[in-house]
Amino acid sequence: MDTDIKSKRGGWGSNFGFLMASIGSAVGLGNIWGFPYKMGKSGGAVFLLFYLVLVVLVGVTVMLGELALGRRSGKSGVSTYRALSKKYTWLGYAGVLCGFCIMCFYFVLGGIVLRYAVGYFLSLFGGSTFAWSGQGTDFFGYFLTDTKSMILFFVLYILLNIIVVSGGVHGGIEKFCNIGMPALFCLLVFIIAYIACQPGAAEGYKFMFRPDFSVFSDPNVGFGRVLKNAAGQMFFSLSIGLGVMITYGSYLGKQEHLQRNAFIVCGADTLIAVMAGLMIIPAVFAFSGGDPDTLQAGPALMFITIPKVFASMGLGTVVGVLFFVLVLFAAVTSSIALTESAVSTFEDELGWDRKKATVLVGVIMVALGTLSSLGYGPLAGVTVIGMQFLDFFDFLTNSVMMPIAAIATCLLVSRVIGVDK
Ligand code: PHE
Repeated sequence: MDTDIKSKRGGWGSNFGFLMASIGSAVGLGNIWGFPYKMGKSGGAVFLLFYLVLVVLVGVTVMLGELALGRRSGKSGVSTYRALSKKYTWLGYAGVLCGFCIMCFYFVLGGIVLRYAVGYFLSLFGGSTFAWSGQGTDFFGYFLTDTKSMILFFVLYILLNIIVVSGGVHGGIEKFCNIGMPALFCLLVFIIAYIACQPGAAEGYKFMFRPDFSVFSDPNVGFGRVLKNAAGQMFFSLSIGLGVMITYGSYLGKQEHLQRNAFIVCGADTLIAVMAGLMIIPAVFAFSGGDPDTLQAGPALMFITIPKVFASMGLGTVVGVLFFVLVLFAAVTSSIALTESAVSTFEDELGWDRKKATVLVGVIMVALGTLSSLGYGPLAGVTVIGMQFLDFFDFLTNSVMMPIAAIATCLLVSRVIGVDK
């Protein structure tokens, strides 16, 4: 029976493949785009300290809980929760809803990264309307308000995801991650080393590693905000609290070691986040004329600072192409996890075939994500509780939905199943 389910639903080709795909799901824009800017805004080393403690105490536990639940049931979130206790079925649906809310902003950011990759690539061949060089340094500001390209690249990014996901677990997702993840790691090492050699970078390391507890009394930061940002970032970055890891666990063989896998995934994700910090924060000090206010740039930080670094390199355009293509890989391996968990819910719940489910998810994504992609252009005046759509969806998922779901999952595991099992 068990083998039947596995062979019908597909499964990982090897534990390495599972690890690469899970790390792929965890490592994404959350690490490379989100971590450095949240660290920049939330007190540097103090934020890092909170983050590390939370990963060890909460992250590893919830990750392990989700993997174990998925492997036990061999199903995606909704069916898993229902099978364990009817009272917890809502948690499965809440996870799917949270996944859709994440897609609403993640795919827009993915589109921006795709635009940067294409821009750098085209500028290898000189200028064109799409090329990077055309817009000078304020490319980001320009692009955000260029509604047509925002939507074009957002839709292209969705198509990219659909192509990979409709290929299935082994053929699409796993092959994609096996190459992209190690390559990204190597490129990050290279860029970090380059930045370390620039004058001014040392200030960035101080900001990252020397805790300054006076931020607790800073009205713009404060204890509560550091904790909230670190916790939200942790859930988001580890992809926990919405059932994605349940789905990934369901494709995992009974012989694999769950604890070890949970540690490796959390460790690798944290390593890449810190590496992204080591790349962007010292670069802010070295390339923004030492003006630490740039750290307050928020979501725009990566898109502003990194191009400055590349512009200063001899072969910056080539490095730019490589960097944005690999960040694109990382983003796609995360967003396919979101797409995959939605698709497998339709497969399991409604008995739909994979292609049909994938297309429907694609259509819903276009509809919802358009709101975020227009948030800086035609819909600039429209806000939800004082936030642009993109920021609102970011806040709603990281800081509200994922923590609640994670706590409920822990309660479920401890009350209904029992920790021993
Ligand atoms: N963890 C991913 C990242 O850091 C985002 C993500 C969240 C992916 C939840 C899947 C589920 O970019």
